[in-house]
Amino acid sequence: MAAAGSAVGLGNIWKFPYVTGENGGGAFLLIYLACILALGVPLIMAELAVGRGARRSPVGAFRALAGGAWPLVGMLGIFTGFIILSFYIVVAGWTLAYVVFTASGQLTSTDPQALGQAFGGFISGSYLPLGCAALFMVATAGVVIGGISNGIERVSKLLMPLLFALLIVLVFRVITLPGAAQGLNFYLLPDWSRVSADTFTAAIGQAFFSLSLGMGALLTYGSYLNEQQHLPRSSLSVAGLDTGIAILAGFMILPAVFAFGFNPESGPKLAFITLPAVFASMPAGVIFGVIFFLLLTVAALTSAVSLLEVVVTYLIDEWYLTRRRATIVAALVCFAVGIPSALSQGASDVFVINGVPFLDWMVKLTDFLLPLGGMLTALCVGWIIGPRAVALARGDRNGFPLATAWLWMLRLAVPAGIFWILKNDLLALAVWLIALL
Ligand code: PFF
Repeated sequence: MAAAGSAVGLGNIWKFPYVTGENGGGAFLLIYLACILALGVPLIMAELAVGRGARRSPVGAFRALAGGAWPLVGMLGIFTGFIILSFYIVVAGWTLAYVVFTASGQLTSTDPQALGQAFGGFISGSYLPLGCAALFMVATAGVVIGGISNGIERVSKLLMPLLFALLIVLVFRVITLPGAAQGLNFYLLPDWSRVSADTFTAAIGQAFFSLSLGMGALLTYGSYLNEQQHLPRSSLSVAGLDTGIAILAGFMILPAVFAFGFNPESGPKLAFITLPAVFASMPAGVIFGVIFFLLLTVAALTSAVSLLEVVVTYLIDEWYLTRRRATIVAALVCFAVGIPSALSQGASDVFVINGVPFLDWMVKLTDFLLPLGGMLTALCVGWIIGPRAVALARGDRNGFPLATAWLWMLRLAVPAGIFWILKNDLLALAVWLIALL
């Protein structure tokens, strides 16, 4: 349940629909699903098995089970978590702001231009988006310092089914809007002419982001699992739940985009301009809207806590900081790194590099870093930990009929698949590293 709490968040409801929109819809959806099944599920199991086997945080786990330079994979994960959290708090801050905007009744329009301007006005104000991100960072740090993650998990166990129910209601509202059919076609009918190398990078990045995979977050959660837990089943249920919610979010946003005349390629602001139109077109929309953005904030909080926790456990284990000090240091630095992201979506182009806003660069960077972490994890578990990993994945249970197939997937198919998708970026990285040396 905790792993599902980490997985379900802004990645499902904010990122998935806009990335699907940018990448042409249906074909992207299929490639995304293939990434989840073929690369995601075996890797979720690998992270959980390593975490449970080593009972340590990522760097220590790779040191204990593989040695050599492998702890660097753990370090890479901590860096990645840090980058993700820097923009995650920004978008969670928007969610928080939209609770208030919706409640105050200032978003009751279905006009794309008016809603675009409302978002633009909010983001150009600088202080408000920064303040909201800071507030969310403080809440996340509070949970991590207070060690009240258990409390949060208990609350979210109650609230997440509610979010799910609300999603279903909203999907029904949206697919019955006049003009929704065009959006359904876009979402469900693959248009292969839209597929390029970038589509694959976006799909694998989105898959790993949504599953919290490739940076040691699931490894950390694995370290809390007992030997009886059936890892194949846990892995499948985390992947299934997370993917189900993302697909529903697509049904909620993309048909609405077409019904109201938004641009599916609006990027990170897509959910924030489209959803108010959905709420405005339903009875008691203000109440639905406020509850929805509130629940989304809670879902974002459980994910942000898991991101910060990875960084904090590392600082505690390896740098001997106290929990309190580790959390404060990590939160402050992370917020500072998040500032350019927070200011990059407005009218000013100070934080726009080569025509791409800073926040979008950070997303692109994680689309590369998470699969890279996943590829290295697969190689390490497949070849270095090897058959011991099967024993760890098995725990106290005997049944694990596909164990050998799983191991060979980690050895060959998973790293090869990720390598094939990342090859251009890896080449660019190699050239850059050589130039640096
Ligand atoms: N999976 C989260 C989401 O979909 O919002 C984001 C995330 C959380 C990514 C934790 C990575 C992570 F370690």
